[in-house]
Formats: sequence, structure tokens, C-alpha cells
Amino acid sequence: MLNWDTMEPTPRRNPAADQANDAVAAESVAAEQLNAQPAYHEVRQPAGQTTAHATGEEHAHSQTGLEGIEQGAGRVDVSAKRIINATADVNQLLPMKYTWAWEKYLAGCNNHWMPTEVSMQADLAIWKARDGLTLDERHMIMRNLGFFATAESLVANNIVLAIYRQITNPECRQYLLRQAFEEAIHTHTFQYIVDSLGLSEGELFNMYREVPSITAKDAWALKYTKNLSTGEFDTSTTEGAQDFLRDLVAFYVVFEGMWFYTGFAQILSLGRRNKMTGIAEQYQYIMRDESIHLNFGIDVINQIKIENPHLWTDAFKQEVITMVREACELEIAYARDTMPHGLLGLSAEMCEEYMHFITNRRCNQIGLPEQYPGAGNPFPWMSEVVDLKKEKNFFETRVTDYQTGGALNW
Ligand SMILES: [Fe+2]
Ligand SMILES: [Fe+2]
Repeated sequence: MLNWDTMEPTPRRNPAADQANDAVAAESVAAEQLNAQPAYHEVRQPAGQTTAHATGEEHAHSQTGLEGIEQGAGRVDVSAKRIINATADVNQLLPMKYTWAWEKYLAGCNNHWMPTEVSMQADLAIWKARDGLTLDERHMIMRNLGFFATAESLVANNIVLAIYRQITNPECRQYLLRQAFEEAIHTHTFQYIVDSLGLSEGELFNMYREVPSITAKDAWALKYTKNLSTGEFDTSTTEGAQDFLRDLVAFYVVFEGMWFYTGFAQILSLGRRNKMTGIAEQYQYIMRDESIHLNFGIDVINQIKIENPHLWTDAFKQEVITMVREACELEIAYARDTMPHGLLGLSAEMCEEYMHFITNRRCNQIGLPEQYPGAGNPFPWMSEVVDLKKEKNFFETRVTDYQTGGALNW
């Protein structure tokens, strides 16, 4: 069983000082990387000669790893590795460049769990009991499960059908393979919940086609995957690379980094009141996985910015801001739809404030200004678990605090 005591707020040493330190650390890491990685591809030949190639337009197509084998080619130099448009062989994991991606792969493996390890007996008892849950609670639970049931598949599709092909770095691909499997485990969770509680599978898995507030979110994200799914798409042009960044923002920053958090807060709030504790425990495991997915995406976005500064123009930044603001509004509408009357300790208004707070944090993480100044966190217990302890990404601090071992110990 999960221990809710560990989710209660604990005194922070000095939040302001910590934030300042985090900001300084982020800046110094970014500066260090900027110095280490100029905006040109430096391809060091084995003999030690260095040739510089401007990033961007010169590459006809990104490497996929399916190209013919180039016999006798020079060995991979780590400095030729890039997130997109790399000239280094995409099939050689070593020598390794992005240790943050490898650390996340190891953390994901250490966090392995299966939904079937969680008992659903208590959930079944309360779900079947006439007065176990209010009608509003049941409505919220169904819409919550209905969003996640297919959302996990949309995220998995995006990794496998859109992102993986464009990432030309093997250690990042290694993490994507782990992440794709975790998304399969998450989809499995919703199959297991439907099966355990005897829910209508047709109702739950069709919500993304039948509930307008869910359709609106999924359709918004899906257009970014579709942009990348044509065989012709590649990141060698500024336009293509910016399309790729848009997709990363839509899925890592918005889908996994914003939209999942209302759902987590809703179910964990019920769990704190000792309701649907099996699902709440599964959501904690999912949230632990997702916090790493999110931070991987943020590290990838920030690294692409460092390696390709010509992509991150003022106009493009404004476009990304518009995207996250649209996504925030879609989520607020979804929260209203899931909780039209409010629940004990939870309301659509609180979710709106929480989404503003989360959106500000995501903007900060990718170097954009906060969009909702002054937004507070109405769920401090979520912040203690997720925002402060687990959401450190490479650009804020070295990742050292990921869980080892399969057990939940927040
Ligand atoms: Fe997931
Ligand atoms: Fe995910």
C-alpha cells in the first residue's frame, strides 16, 4: 500500500534560496553547454582534423539508422553527436554524449512496475457499494479514466511513429524505447482497471471520440503528430526542425507535462480520502514514470535549442507561448466537464488555478516567461511530491534523485 503520510507537505528548508540556486545552476549548466557546443557541427576526424559545418539546411535527410553500412568510415567522435541532424552513426551508443538521457533510461528500468501488482479489492468494494461514492465522484472518475485510457496510446504513437525517427542520437533513442514500453504499461493499467471493476470498455475507450472536452484535447495534439508522420518529413530545414519542436512541446510539455497533472490531482485527491486507493497507487506509479518522460522532453528541447539557436526565434517563442496557453484553456474546460459541481477538497476552479501554476512552471523550464503571474498551487501535497522533489531536469540540476528499486518511496 502507498503511504499517504509521505504526501503531506513537509517544511521546505528555504524555498526562495533553493529556487535561486536552481536558477543559478540552470544558467551555469546552460552556459557550460553553450560554451562546449558551438552552433556548428564540429566533426573531428580520427586524425584530429576538425571541420565545421553550419547546422540546418545542408543535410538532405536526417539519419534513420536504415542507411546502407558505410564500410571503413571514420569512427564516431562524441563531438559529432547531435539530438537532430547528427553526422555521427546513429547506431552506435558508445561513445556516449548525453549522460542525462542514459540516466533516465536507467531510472526508468529501476522503476519497473506492473499494474497487476496492485490489488483492486478495496476499489471494487467501494465502486460496487451503493453509497461508496457520490454521483459526482463517479462522473469524475469515469471521465478521468476515459481521458487516460486512449491518451497513453496517443503518446506512444507519437514516440514510435513521429519522434523516434527524427532523433539522431542513440542514447536518446535508448530512452525512447524504454518510454514506449512504459506507455504500454500505462495502457495496460486501464485495461486492468476496466477488467477489475467491470467498467464498460466501450464507454471508457470511446470517450476520446464521444466526450467533446476530451476530443478537443486529443485532436489538438494529434495534428502535431500528423505533421511528422509523412515519409517526406525531416528536420534538415528550419521549418522541419521547428515542426519537430512543436511536436515535442505538444506531447512532452503539454500532454505529459500539463494535461496529465489534472488527472493525477483528481485521483490522488480521492486516494487521500481513502477512496479508490488501488487506482490512486497505480497513478502514483504512472506519475513517477511521467515525471521522467516530461523531464526527458524538456532536456531534449533545451538541448536542441543550444545546438540550433536559429530555431528559437522571437516569433517561434511566441508561437510556443500561444500553444501552451491554448492547451491550458483546453484543460480548464476539461476540468469543468469532469467536475461540474465540485467534490470534497477539489473543484474546477482549483484545477484552473493549478493548471495556471503548472503552465508557469513548464514555461520556465523551456526558458519562456510565466504566463499567469501570481498563480498559486492549490494542491501543495502534489507540489511536494512532484514539482519540488521529482521534477528536477538536467538544466536545473544533475539528476541524482531518481528512485532505485521498484518500490514506491516518495
Ligand atoms: Fe504514460
Ligand atoms: Fe508518458
